[in-house]
Amino acid sequence: MKKLDKFRLRLGKQEFVPIMLGGMGMDISTAEMAIEFSRLGGIGHISDAMVEAVSDRRFGTHFVKDKYQLYKRLASSPNKAEVQFDLELLRKAATLHVEKTMNEKRGDGGIYINCMEKLTMNNPKETLQVRLSAAMDAGIDGITLSAGLHLGSFELIKDHPRFRDVKLGIIVSSLRALTLFLKRAARVDRLPDFVVVEGPLAGGHLGFGLEDWKKYNLKDITTEVLNHLEEKGLAIPVIPAGGIFTGTDGVEFLEMGASAIQVANRFTITEESGLLADAKQEYLKATESDVEVNMTSPTGYPMRMLKISPSTGSGVKPNCESLGYLLDRDGNCSYIAAYGRASEGKKGRISVDEKTCLCTHMRNYKCWTCGHYVYRLKDTTNLLPDGTYQLLTTAHVFKDYQFSTDHEIKLPPLPPAEK
Ligand SMILES: Cc1cc2nc3c(=O)[nH]c(=O)nc-3n(C[C@H](O)[C@H](O)[C@H](O)COP(=O)(O)O)c2cc1C
Repeated sequence: MKKLDKFRLRLGKQEFVPIMLGGMGMDISTAEMAIEFSRLGGIGHISDAMVEAVSDRRFGTHFVKDKYQLYKRLASSPNKAEVQFDLELLRKAATLHVEKTMNEKRGDGGIYINCMEKLTMNNPKETLQVRLSAAMDAGIDGITLSAGLHLGSFELIKDHPRFRDVKLGIIVSSLRALTLFLKRAARVDRLPDFVVVEGPLAGGHLGFGLEDWKKYNLKDITTEVLNHLEEKGLAIPVIPAGGIFTGTDGVEFLEMGASAIQVANRFTITEESGLLADAKQEYLKATESDVEVNMTSPTGYPMRMLKISPSTGSGVKPNCESLGYLLDRDGNCSYIAAYGRASEGKKGRISVDEKTCLCTHMRNYKCWTCGHYVYRLKDTTNLLPDGTYQLLTTAHVFKDYQFSTDHEIKLPPLPPAEK
């Protein structure tokens, strides 16, 4: 049986080990993790989700606190239209995050950034333009457009000097979404350099309906996309994602004609993952019945998470003055409305079941989003005598994907004290 290592991903003149780390916001796919991917010859993604909060965490800046000071007078008002991101400060935070990561880059792989369109930030167009151009200015190797159709995103950066040199890709969950994107990309005479096809078993937000995600499967969508591109004579590398758990799963996709795989779930429990230690253990303990797809994300997309995710049912006060990443162009977020309904006539702690304050919970790593196969993570490591699971290194999991055959998963060597 073949190993993933027999294949290479070609993007322009470059060749990579065909393993891409999917972006995991906010800062679950850390710079350290992405740098490991690059060192090992693959492509790692950082994410620009909530980049001001990420910068505060990484570099001790005060973007979040300063924004709160500016807008705290609005904290009790449901109307957040005035809460705006200062575009220069946003640029500064994005630049810090990307520049520092690229300065520390090692190896011949790539470091890309995942940019979600649904992070509307009370000013969708301009904030996205700043995020994209700051990443390019700061030397990012590539950008992956995610969580949205991104019909206008290429237009936003078409005049940037690196528009034709940075690798630009898009995540889609259907051929329909891809064809819409390609039509718009033609207007600026720029095809995407790669397409990630994300199926229904992925972590984070899903591009499928809550009721019908089970009807779809990644192999069928990938085949449809591959056939379409071939018919049109478009040589765009296709990178499937979602539920690819072993190197052998990956080989099956490469033998179908895919160019690489994108993976995330298995890296959530590595030392380099930004998740907190307790969350990593909960991911490792999870069983299949502990996972759900729900509609609590204010983005309107279904999201997969552990049922015990602390974000579920939590009634924290909306925190838009400090964060506000999901405010739409009119300053609305469906959590504010849900919070208002749940708190009407009530005093003290409340529970909000309909929606979650995703900004607050992602910032505190309390929204435990996961891939469908989170319940198989326990099979990838050792249970230690103290009842906890051993964490892995990013390099260990990467190499397991790269070299494994016959769906085998290599366990890590036990820590010295346990031998
Ligand atoms: C914890 C977690 C967080 C994620 N966050 C994001 C995100 O912020 N943006 C995004 O486009 N995809 C996100 N994803 C999806 C991954 O990038 C990836 O495409 C997918 O999960 C791959 O499938 P796998 O997790 O089964 O390997 C996330 C996935 C996980 C597991």
